[in-house]
Amino acid sequence: MPGLGEILDGKGICICAGSGGVGKTTTSAAIASGMAARGLKVCVLTIDPAKRLADSLGLKELGNEAKQVDPKLFEAKGVEMKGELWAMMLDAKATFDELIARQAPDEEARDRVLNNRIYQQISSALAGSQEYMAMEKLFELHTEGRFDLLVLDTPPTRNALDFLDAPKRLTQFIEGRSLRVFMKPTGLAAKVAGRGASVALSVFKRIVGFDLLADLAEFFNAFSGMVDGFQARAKRVNQLLADRRTCFLVVCGPQGEPIDEAVYFHRKLVEAKLPFAGVIVNKVHYPAEDLRGDGGDLPATLAEKLGDEDLARRVEKNFGDYQALAERDARNIERLAKELSSRAVIRVPHLDEDVHDLAGLAEIDRYLFATSEERVAMAAGRA
Ligand SMILES: Nc1ncnc2c1ncn2[C@@H]1O[C@H](COP(=O)(O)OP(=O)(O)OP(=O)(O)O)[C@@H](O)[C@H]1O
Ligand SMILES: [Mg+2]
Repeated sequence: MPGLGEILDGKGICICAGSGGVGKTTTSAAIASGMAARGLKVCVLTIDPAKRLADSLGLKELGNEAKQVDPKLFEAKGVEMKGELWAMMLDAKATFDELIARQAPDEEARDRVLNNRIYQQISSALAGSQEYMAMEKLFELHTEGRFDLLVLDTPPTRNALDFLDAPKRLTQFIEGRSLRVFMKPTGLAAKVAGRGASVALSVFKRIVGFDLLADLAEFFNAFSGMVDGFQARAKRVNQLLADRRTCFLVVCGPQGEPIDEAVYFHRKLVEAKLPFAGVIVNKVHYPAEDLRGDGGDLPATLAEKLGDEDLARRVEKNFGDYQALAERDARNIERLAKELSSRAVIRVPHLDEDVHDLAGLAEIDRYLFATSEERVAMAAGRA
């Protein structure tokens, strides 16, 4: 089974997808720092990282621009950094604004959209806009060509597949029939704009605080000229996702449900002809070393070591529960590996503490980049 080093060899983009809370952000950061440590210039595009992780990457006062993580921070943790790690936090709203600025025919059209209250609402609230903007930023960074590898963390969507449809959904929204009605020269927009404020509209305006319909009309008129540009760009984003130098990694937990989801996600990616590369099963309970020694009596051994029979019984129960979890995880992962036949399934243990700094990422790195033999040895030995 290939390790992560082989999977990512020659790749320019790595997308980490998976359902909420499984460790996408952590894994993306660990993959990026691991590849950077091995000599590449890597940028990780994170979305909503835990504050402590963001702090430890030096991301706290970051805008919508990639910034290099200070190599001294790695040195301090004893990590040899042969390449460069860059990181940025996605700002969906700022990315949307940049996109408008790029698509607008002139500054006036740009400002009309950016200052429009409907746009201001939509750009931060439109369902899927965060997903779409993640793709957009990825595309932009890729086009600039400054990095050997881009690692994309994906937003916590309810369905791990949502983000794949995001560009399509946004263009469909803009193209949508209801909007066409607004944008036609004789459409509602023209009527509203032409008629001036009727009594009804001025009452409405007083209630909502601003002239909603006029804003809507203006928004769609300004947007109409950009639809083609949006579509063309969405098409290029889709091409980039399907490129052979792009790879998708699915991150999941070891419980039954996330595993089912990983299997489903794999199938969907294959159907969509997108380059699926493997699954990272995160937070796995590895079997603990047998405390019994040479087949001895566990409660007696524990009681002797702890000097307290009651405590010994509780520790034994805890140990039993943990072993049951580890066995369940192992069974689930076996099922997953079978489903995916030859594809990579990489396991990362549930560490004792949250992963919030470069040392934590380096610990995860050991498992992500281990060769198959190393992985077997680690799975057997880890408590
Ligand atoms: N292998 C691990 N061992 C222990 N803790 C972990 C591990 N991986 C991730 N965590 C912790 O689990 C929490 C969730 O991780 P993370 O933020 O990476 O998930 P996510 O998939 O990005 O979540 P969201 O879907 O909300 O964006 C974090 O507190 C992180 O430190
Ligand atoms: Mg996250």
